[in-house]
Amino acid sequence: MKALVLAGGKGTRLRPLTHTSAKQLVPVANKPVLYYGLEAIRNAGITQVGIIIGSTGREVRDAVGDGSAFGLDVTYIQQEAPLGLAHCVLIAREFLADEPFVMYLGDNFLVGGITDLVDAFREGDYDAQILVTKVTEPQFYGVAELGPGGEILALAEKPDDPRSDLAIVGVYTFSPRIHEAVRAISPSARGELEITDAITWLVDNGFRVHSHLVSGYWKDTGRLQDMLECNRIVLEAIDPRTHGTVDELSDVTGRVVIEAGASVRNSVIRGPALIGAHARISGSYVGPYTSIGNSCVVEDAEVEYAIVLQDSTIRGVSRLTYSLIGRNVEVTRSEGVPNTLQLMVGDHSRVQVRA
Ligand code: DAU
Repeated sequence: MKALVLAGGKGTRLRPLTHTSAKQLVPVANKPVLYYGLEAIRNAGITQVGIIIGSTGREVRDAVGDGSAFGLDVTYIQQEAPLGLAHCVLIAREFLADEPFVMYLGDNFLVGGITDLVDAFREGDYDAQILVTKVTEPQFYGVAELGPGGEILALAEKPDDPRSDLAIVGVYTFSPRIHEAVRAISPSARGELEITDAITWLVDNGFRVHSHLVSGYWKDTGRLQDMLECNRIVLEAIDPRTHGTVDELSDVTGRVVIEAGASVRNSVIRGPALIGAHARISGSYVGPYTSIGNSCVVEDAEVEYAIVLQDSTIRGVSRLTYSLIGRNVEVTRSEGVPNTLQLMVGDHSRVQVRA
């Protein structure tokens, strides 16, 4: 069995971060979301992995390399434009050969791994297996309508009027029959070759498609609130450790990781929280569900429920919350009068200030 990981695409919903970097590399608990997927694949006993890359391909290659760090053997497959999930299967034909495979969307985050799903697929002798889970806003996902025995009645991609609250999770398993399906379909109204259409083709042509209800935690990390939620979930289970230094004026409580080379001075850290390597926290409060990236500086500031990427500085600001801060960003207080807001913010950014 092989795996096909999709790490191309546009990432419009996480702009401006994704103007310059791949959305699959935005960190959850200071680790790119893509790594969690690769680890799940390896834990399921799969080693041959094809990774679809697009315009951010160089960055993905730098982050994953030849896969040996994960115990994987990685082949990169360049997609010339984000033409759809089924298009990814089409261009991976040679790599996939005639083996069954798991298709894993590189921005999906699934707690509990995929070992059980892969085993169920192997045992069931299906042509496709999809995972579904209940969501509150199904219109943002592929939506499955199931019969009483879990059989698939219909699948629709981001319907305006969803016929169920079951979203299709971005982890699929396929037999080689899917190659016939992706060749048979045409681009959708949004111009993409949809995997939902290819699976519908399998159902319509009498092939065995199985649905499996996921009860564990799942998120598509395409949106800010989902990134923050994933971060919260991972931090809640983190093993506390202090490899950096904490002075006696500081108060560190709860699940907190302080990585090597980090220093905490005259500060309160209330976990679950993660302070990255070589970060410097002084005169500050770092509240629950916060990840501070490597080499960040947090000084005379309060940060809570936030993800701060590496090399950023937050100084003299109270209180920053529900935020995703990119790399090398400075958030500081403007001094003197008049009491103004001074911003230099990238394209497609969002800034919320108290009126
Ligand atoms: O996350 C689950 C959802 O994923 C499903 O419910 C939907 O049925 C499915 O279509 C997909 O919807 P998204 O709109 O979230 O897909 P997105 O465009 O974000 O792409 C998912 C991943 O695949 C992402 O890592 C980018 C990558 N990708 C996407 C396209 C369209 C590619 O590598 N190439 C592509 O052409």
